[in-house]
Amino acid sequence: MSGEVSLETIVSLCKRRGFMYQGSEIYGGLAGTWDYGPLGTVLKRKILNLWWETFVGSRDDMYDIDSAILMNPKVWQASGHVDTFTDPLVECQNCHARLREDYIKDKKCPVCGKDKFSEPRQFNMMFKTNIGPVQDEKSISYLRPETAQGIFTNFKNVVDSFYPDVPFGMAQIGKAFRNEISPRDFIFRSREFEQMEIEYFVHPEEWEKAFEQWRKDIHKFLKALGLPADKVHELEVPDADRAHYSKRTIDFEFDFPIGREELLGLAYRTDFDLMNIQKASGKSMEYRPKDGGAPFVPHVIEPSFGVERAMMAVLSAAYTEDEVNGEKRAYLKLPADLAPVKVAVSPLLKNKPELADKAREVYKMLKKEFGAVMYDDNGNIGKRYRRQDEIGTPYCVTIDFDTLEDDTVTVRSRDTTEQKRIKIAGIITTMS
Ligand code: GAP
Repeated sequence: MSGEVSLETIVSLCKRRGFMYQGSEIYGGLAGTWDYGPLGTVLKRKILNLWWETFVGSRDDMYDIDSAILMNPKVWQASGHVDTFTDPLVECQNCHARLREDYIKDKKCPVCGKDKFSEPRQFNMMFKTNIGPVQDEKSISYLRPETAQGIFTNFKNVVDSFYPDVPFGMAQIGKAFRNEISPRDFIFRSREFEQMEIEYFVHPEEWEKAFEQWRKDIHKFLKALGLPADKVHELEVPDADRAHYSKRTIDFEFDFPIGREELLGLAYRTDFDLMNIQKASGKSMEYRPKDGGAPFVPHVIEPSFGVERAMMAVLSAAYTEDEVNGEKRAYLKLPADLAPVKVAVSPLLKNKPELADKAREVYKMLKKEFGAVMYDDNGNIGKRYRRQDEIGTPYCVTIDFDTLEDDTVTVRSRDTTEQKRIKIAGIITTMS
């Protein structure tokens, strides 16, 4: 059985095995925040790297950017976020819980069950802060709610420095913050999360072609993340539900344990952002073609990924249960490139120095080759296999007394649980 898993199972595995912890857990937590544990940090980095390699590193039409999180408040006025980045907020008349109106099921307060609410008001989701020592209206700024604006505001800089041919893209990975009224469902809707965004600048007449190409490329990337195609769905977002800047949006949805929900978005942002910046800053955002053609303000295709949702999709798609020798087993069938640990090395018995010495030697050799190698001598060998299965380690190597005689080790495969006897000199080729 693969992928049919409850959210509770994923959350408990993540905590037990060191992928994710509740933010500030030791003080009772802070709603909508999560901390990555050692394995979650590596998994996240691997997802980010795969995204970067696929969409930026392997292409010659992409430019990286790493902009400041705090930006001049004019950015958020010009982009429309100050006026329109809102969700409908209501208050329960009985228990005074503040709730996002469109999340209320069956018109009942999820806290007290009563059904009387205040009139909805629009609640702006940007986190406000003050810049500098004076706290007044003039010093207000915001934590960025999307990384995209750091790209748009640097469009002219990159064009002036590199003079790229259109179409070209600018990419940014970074934290985004939203004061969600109802953070929920583990890392699915948090108040602090990380985005992987691209603004792809095209000639206005070329937007449909570019949109279709991105659509195809996104499906390829989701496949590389190990997400089964039959769990990925496209939703053409209707006019009324689209963000204020978009003329067309496809939400790529995934069958999460919480149901079918948005994993990422692909939007046609037209020239909305560059034109707003041009108006607000008085600086031209026109691009002058090298062939002397008429100048134009580029239009934008935006594939926007959130790494937390990607991670939740990867984990739930990888979660698998089967039976080995009559015993139930749970393991993460992660693509080998994403597994936080590629191979675990163990001595059969912990308290035999000759086995431990040999195991350390093999560990060092593999670490040099693969990097993501764990030395594991906790518990007995059965427990080690179970633990490594649960964190998705594709291979376990065990050093026993025969190793000392003939330089062979046992290599166990995560997916088949098959064990093979292999010469130490051949381990790397077997696993490459
Ligand atoms: N620049 C466009 C933009 O930000 P969005 O649909 O609001 O578009 C893009 O966000 C992606 O960011 C989403 O598809 C999702 O993966 C992620 N995301 C948005 N809000 C989130 C939240 N509160 N918690 C976790 N991820 C979130």
